[in-house]
Amino acid sequence: MKSMVIGGIILIVALIAGTYFVAGDAFDTDDYINSLTMLGAVAILVITVFVTLKYINKMKNDTASGELAEERWDGIGEYKNPIPTGWGLAFIGTIVWLLWYWTVGYPTNGFSQIGQWNQEVNEYNAKFSSKWENPTNDTLVAMGESTFLVQCAPCHGVDAEGIQGKAQNLTTRITKASVEYVIKNGSNNLKTAYPGGMPPMMLTEATDIDAVSSYIAGGFKGEQPASFAVCAGCHGIDGKGIAFVGPNLKEYDDSLVTSVLTDGKKGDIGIMPSFKGRLNPTQEKALAAYIRNLGE
Ligand code: HEC
Ligand code: HEC
Repeated sequence: MKSMVIGGIILIVALIAGTYFVAGDAFDTDDYINSLTMLGAVAILVITVFVTLKYINKMKNDTASGELAEERWDGIGEYKNPIPTGWGLAFIGTIVWLLWYWTVGYPTNGFSQIGQWNQEVNEYNAKFSSKWENPTNDTLVAMGESTFLVQCAPCHGVDAEGIQGKAQNLTTRITKASVEYVIKNGSNNLKTAYPGGMPPMMLTEATDIDAVSSYIAGGFKGEQPASFAVCAGCHGIDGKGIAFVGPNLKEYDDSLVTSVLTDGKKGDIGIMPSFKGRLNPTQEKALAAYIRNLGE
């Protein structure tokens, strides 16, 4: 026992010396909080070492006593020990603390960084939508341009004229190749605005396909080819689209742009990613206004 106490004291001195070496500055200042903290640290050290010594000593010298329980579940005997009072109180205390924590504690009332972030985002969103409640077309075009330059230009180019092999030219509404592509393959990308999609067309005569594609890509000028009748049922006789049935083929109206941005699009040129949740409705309208403005 004596040698262990001596060992303990040596350990304490070594730990205090180590602490002094690492954080010794705190002893010198006249900031009494630092000194109190150091004092507390030394006290904890001393108590820990002596309590540990006490139990090591007990483990070495104690012999078992008391009454054995009758059950022997695994062949090893167990003593009938009463629950230690401290343990019992701590157990009940934990339950009380748990109830407090669930009802009035941190989760319902406390500060949270995520909550603060959400709150600030909501405030700014509200400010944004009240500021731009009724924007003029010029405002929308300007707003659309700045959003476009950040979000869309990497693929569509700063002038929106497309980047070869990467994304389509948005200054012209539709190319001949993309009309031919949807006639052959159909298309069902814009599920939000046009849930039915477009099935591949029965149109097989090369001359018919050529006539209707040239007519649409050429901006609906000249005489309407007879084969456009197949398309008019969904895209309207004037090509300006029918809500929920077929999109406007003449210009980029709000609902087409919004649904491209929501659902993304996979076509003959490539894949346009979905921007769902990244743009608010005003920004989508602004982009549509900006893109329409390009063609004019
Ligand atoms: C059954 C209705 C229906 C018919 C008939 C139809 N379309 Fe469509 N079309 C759609 C729908 C819906 C879309 C949107 C596709 C999507 O969700 O990806 C579409 C998309 C298109 C597009 C792509 C528009 C874009 O912005 O890229 C073109 C071009 C087109 N159709 C041309 C035609 C032509 C040409 C015909 C006639 C030969 C035709 N469509 C017949 C419903 C139809
Ligand atoms: C990762 C590249 C990429 C980015 C970023 C991108 N696009 Fe696209 N976009 C494409 C591709 C590729 C197509 C052509 C899809 C096809 O093959 O029909 C396309 C097509 C479109 C179309 C034409 C849809 C049609 O049917 O005619 C519109 C409108 C459009 N994008 C708007 C935007 C807007 C607005 C943004 C910015 C918010 C944007 N795109 C960002 C790649 C991109």
